[in-house]
Amino acid sequence: MTTSSHPFSPSSKGAASPPGGADVPAQDLSLRTGVAASVVDQAILSRRSIRAFLDKPVADELILHLLEVASRAPSGTNTQPWQVHILRGAALQQLVEQALAAFDNPEVLAAQPKPYDYYPLKWVSPYLERRRKVGYDLYALLGIAKGDKEAMHRQHARNYAFFDAPVGLFFSIDRVLCQGSWLDYGMFLQSIMVAARGHGLDTCPQAAWLTVQGVVERFLDLRDDQALVCGMALGYARGDAVENRLETERVSARSFARFCEARAA
Ligand SMILES: Cc1cc2nc3c(=O)[nH]c(=O)nc-3n(C[C@H](O)[C@H](O)[C@H](O)COP(=O)(O)O)c2cc1C
Repeated sequence: MTTSSHPFSPSSKGAASPPGGADVPAQDLSLRTGVAASVVDQAILSRRSIRAFLDKPVADELILHLLEVASRAPSGTNTQPWQVHILRGAALQQLVEQALAAFDNPEVLAAQPKPYDYYPLKWVSPYLERRRKVGYDLYALLGIAKGDKEAMHRQHARNYAFFDAPVGLFFSIDRVLCQGSWLDYGMFLQSIMVAARGHGLDTCPQAAWLTVQGVVERFLDLRDDQALVCGMALGYARGDAVENRLETERVSARSFARFCEARAA
């Protein structure tokens, strides 16, 4: 069995805390700045979207611990808009089979309910180029030639197996909640992914599940007042998988941020 090649392992100093919700200190503000800065930076920097996982289970207590930690994310007036649906073992397998069957059946796919618009209806620069680059880079690593639709379809289908992760998470939100709560939700999701790094775990957030939203809703028996936000694969990264070598670019802070100066009266 191959282990994760990530630099941020559970043995990283000060990173790990034992699983179990009760140990999460809500008011512990005592992190010493020097150590905390490097550990926190490293947890954030070592997070990447992982698209091949080991067949290695994650303890329920650890999953709950990550969710307890992430639930310390801020939310407007402490509304805490998150609802999490955890799948592993036989339940995960069952859903994966149904989702893959749906994805391979154009008629079933066409009959899926329309999800919320995650992406713009019309792509413009620079987002279009960034989106294309990440796709090309992933396919290049996997040796998928441009225009090889069959191979691209198969790679896309990997989403519906949670990339073989032992844990699949689904996130839903009460439909009465508004844009602000979706903003809160993003913070919660990132907190899960960063907390996971502290335990040597990896993740892939997945909007792909919206494509088979009807299958997911039915499987989860999701109430009508809940909207599916996204899915997330959680597990231990396969160090030998080429797709996990994908390193995505970022524009520098200086190009997307500016210091605003006082204006002349
Ligand atoms: C909400 C959300 C949904 C995403 N959906 C998918 C997905 O369905 N499948 C996938 O392979 N990657 C998905 N990604 C991963 C992005 O492609 C990835 O975050 C981006 O390319 C930057 O790479 P990095 O996460 O490795 O830093 C998603 C990311 C986010 C935040």
